[in-house]
Amino acid sequence: MIKKGIILAGGRGTRMSPLTKAINKQLLPIFDKPLIFYPLSILMLSKIKDILIIVNKGELSQYKKIIPSGKNLGIKITYAEQSEPRGLPDAFIIGEKFIGSDNVALILGDNFFYGQNLTTQLLNYKKLKKGAKIILHKVKKPDQYGVAKINKKYKVTHIKEKPKKFISDLAITGLYFFDNLVCKYSKLLKPSKRGELEIVDLINKYKKKGNLKASLLGRGGAWLDTGSIDDFYKTSAFVSAIEKRQGLKVACIEEIALSNGWINKREINNQIKFYGKCEYSEYLKNLIITKK
Ligand code: DAU
Repeated sequence: MIKKGIILAGGRGTRMSPLTKAINKQLLPIFDKPLIFYPLSILMLSKIKDILIIVNKGELSQYKKIIPSGKNLGIKITYAEQSEPRGLPDAFIIGEKFIGSDNVALILGDNFFYGQNLTTQLLNYKKLKKGAKIILHKVKKPDQYGVAKINKKYKVTHIKEKPKKFISDLAITGLYFFDNLVCKYSKLLKPSKRGELEIVDLINKYKKKGNLKASLLGRGGAWLDTGSIDDFYKTSAFVSAIEKRQGLKVACIEEIALSNGWINKREINNQIKFYGKCEYSEYLKNLIITKK
């Protein structure tokens, strides 16, 4: 059972410059809330309460303005800094002390997941005891992602980062589950040609040992990687359409904490005070009115 999670929320966001010159990508809005709320909500839906957020060196104060602590969410938040974007597996080198002797989930700060049965699926993924689990999703342009080829028994036969030649249309999403060996394996990795530690090299270590599992996020689920400005607008439009249609918010972290039974009316009221007079606070007010 996985009890700890890491959100990797650094990176330069170069593809979104000049928007990301002064503000980190994960603090930019996806419709009505900062991007970081979405991956955080995924860990919370997985009932993971012990969370490490890794941010760029010098950007801690920006993040602490929006998520000062986990207190009002009934969770524990720890922050760590990454001195430069050395690659995704760096999360397990920076996070070694946080991970301790536990297994761990990693979600990339720019990944968006939505869909029916998502919570049930997440709760299943986090049951991992040994090895690694990757979550795959069918995409039209696989050359933009890490991809995995699987056989009929869902066994991963091949993985490659941003392959130029088609091998599969199953992208490896930015949500990963690892056993405790992940720290040891990450420290053994060598930087790739582009000078980064590569997540596919890490996953390959598990594959070679026969300890890699894959799950498919079905077509009822949406996975979006908000790497470009266009993706940002598309994801915002998606969230806006759902929220306006249903009157329910996607990734309202207080609502998840409340329904998990981690917080009550008092913490919601604290959050309302914290956010001030705004539409998001109005939504929070309604949560506790209907809860009475
Ligand atoms: O989104 C899924 C994809 O994410 C996977 O399919 C790929 O296998 C994986 O390599 C990754 O590809 P990207 O090209 O999207 O990775 P990117 O460099 O954009 O980083 C993803 C997020 O992680 C982004 O929010 C910035 C953050 N990051 C990245 C690096 C390399 C860090 O915080 N630190 C880092 O060192």
